[in-house]
Amino acid sequence: MKILVIGATGTIGGAVADALAARNGRDGLYDILRAARRSGPLRVDLTDTSSIDALLAATGPLDAIVCCAASGAMTPLTAPSDDEFWTGLDGKLIGQVNLVRRSLTHVRDGGSLTLTSGRFTEPLPGSSLGHLVNAGLDAFVHAAAAEMPRGVRLNAVSPGWVRETLTTLGMDPAPGTPVADLARVYVNAVEGGANGSTFTAPETPSRPSR
Ligand SMILES: NC(=O)c1ccc[n+]([C@@H]2O[C@H](COP(=O)([O-])OP(=O)(O)OC[C@H]3O[C@@H](n4cnc5c(N)ncnc54)[C@H](OP(=O)(O)O)[C@@H]3O)[C@@H](O)[C@H]2O)c1
Repeated sequence: MKILVIGATGTIGGAVADALAARNGRDGLYDILRAARRSGPLRVDLTDTSSIDALLAATGPLDAIVCCAASGAMTPLTAPSDDEFWTGLDGKLIGQVNLVRRSLTHVRDGGSLTLTSGRFTEPLPGSSLGHLVNAGLDAFVHAAAAEMPRGVRLNAVSPGWVRETLTTLGMDPAPGTPVADLARVYVNAVEGGANGSTFTAPETPSRPSR
C-alpha cells in the first residue's frame, strides 16, 4: 500500500507515519510518503489548492491519505483582524476539505482518506473557532463519506490533548494521550472498514483539550 501522510514533520503526523511504516500489511510493508509544509522532499500548503494538486501529481496514485497537518491556534473573538481570526478555518477546515475534493481521482479503488479534527472538553477562552472547525470537519466527514466514489472511505480522527504536546507546552503531561497510542487510532482508520466515522483517541481523564 502506498500511503501519503501530510503533516509528517509534526507531533502526530510523525508518529502516524512511523506507526504505518512499521506495519506489515496484506501486501507487505507499506510505502509511506511523508509531506509537510516547510521541509522534506514532499511539500504542500493546504491553504493553496495548486500546491495540493502539485503534491498529488508528484505522488501518483495512492491507496490512502492521512492528513495530520494544520495548526489550530487559539484565536479570541476579539482578534485584531479578520485574517488573524479566520486562519484556523483556512488552514485546518477548508484545507482538509479541499484535500478531499482534489484527492478523489488520486486514491485507488477501495482506498481511504483520514482527516484530523480535535476536541475540547470545555469551552476555553479563544477556543470558539477551534470548536467550529472541529465540529465542521466531523460533520463534513459524516456527510461526505456518502459521496465517496469507488469504495473509497473517508474518516476523521479527533484527538484530545497529546501527552508530548503538553510536555512541549510545559504543562502537566499526565492527562494527555501518548502519541503512539493515538497513532494506532489512525492505523485502525486506514486498515479498518469504517466510512464516515470520527474516531477519538483512547479516553483520558477529563481535562481541557484542544
Ligand atoms: N497535539 C495535540 O495535542 C492535538 C490535540 C488535538 C488536535 N490536534 C490537531 O492535530 C493536528 C496536528 O497537530 P500536531 O500537534 O501534530 O501539530 P504540529 O506538531 O504543529 O505539526 C503540524 C504539521 O502540519 C504541517 N502543516 C502546518 N500547516 C500546514 C499547511 N498549511 N499545509 C500543510 N501542512 C501544514 C506542519 O508542517 P511544517 O512544520 O512544515 O509547517 C507539521 O508537519 C492539528 O490539526 C491539531 O489541531 C492536535
